[in-house]
Amino acid sequence: MKISLGSISSLAIFSAVKSLPTSLIARQVETCPINALSCTPDAGGSCCSPANSRVVLVQGWYQGLGPADSFTMNSLRASHCDGRRTRWGCDPSRNYPNLDSILSVNQTLYDEMRTYWPSVNGPDRNDEFWSHEWENQGTCITTLEPKCFSNYTQYQDVYTYFGTALQLHQQHDLFAMLSNSNITPGGSYSLDVFEEAIRSYTGFTPKITCNQGSVLNEIMIYFNVRNGDQYEPTDSTEHSFCRRQSMIHFPVK
Ligand SMILES: *[C@@H]1O[C@H](CO)[C@@H](O)[C@H](O)[C@H]1NC(C)=O
Ligand SMILES: *[C@@H]1O[C@H](CO)[C@@H](O)[C@H](O)[C@H]1NC(C)=O
Repeated sequence: MKISLGSISSLAIFSAVKSLPTSLIARQVETCPINALSCTPDAGGSCCSPANSRVVLVQGWYQGLGPADSFTMNSLRASHCDGRRTRWGCDPSRNYPNLDSILSVNQTLYDEMRTYWPSVNGPDRNDEFWSHEWENQGTCITTLEPKCFSNYTQYQDVYTYFGTALQLHQQHDLFAMLSNSNITPGGSYSLDVFEEAIRSYTGFTPKITCNQGSVLNEIMIYFNVRNGDQYEPTDSTEHSFCRRQSMIHFPVK
């Protein structure tokens, strides 16, 4: 999303800048506060940081799904600064048909999607799952709107949404965080122990959800967004949804 000028000559910079519409330059350089940060008075406009929202990375632990040593992606979604859920589906004009074929244009991204963002209903339903996430969640993250890219190319909003989500998934490898605290599949641990294991890496408290109150289901990490595309972990604005008094089971996949 940033304009990288490192590799082109100053003459090329001059002509590249000259050919950009002035409004884009204004948005990139003048409108965003220095160090624009979501959910602060310096959040800036909707391209500088997600409008009135944080971003939540939702990873799941679903039996039989994905690699045995990795949580899988459920969603990257917006959440109001005060913790309320944002509305679902913010721009029907960007509900693109056939997301599977759009994503398959980039083989690296597509392979990662199939491995780390599989549908619980099987590979034939990936397209439906990815469309659901893009339409309901991706289109609500305002920094990914086409007008926010300095040189938007078709579907760059989609590639950036899924690419960013997978990058955050890789950078916040929950399985590794838990194993390093000796929390491994097959065991049961208190909610405090799960939360502390993650907090010791990110510095912030995640939200954890359980099935039947005590079987690990999803782990959410909240982020503030700085300067449009830097995701900085922050505390969850919602409490975990597991029984704090029970032991939480971490099933073998
Ligand atoms: C914008 O992107 C297109 C397609 O990648 C490219 O041909 C064009 O040179 C780019 N324009 C600028 C100003 O960078
Ligand atoms: C393809 O996707 C990968 C993974 O998200 C990304 O690192 C890479 O830059 C993408 N390639 C192109 C040409 O956009």
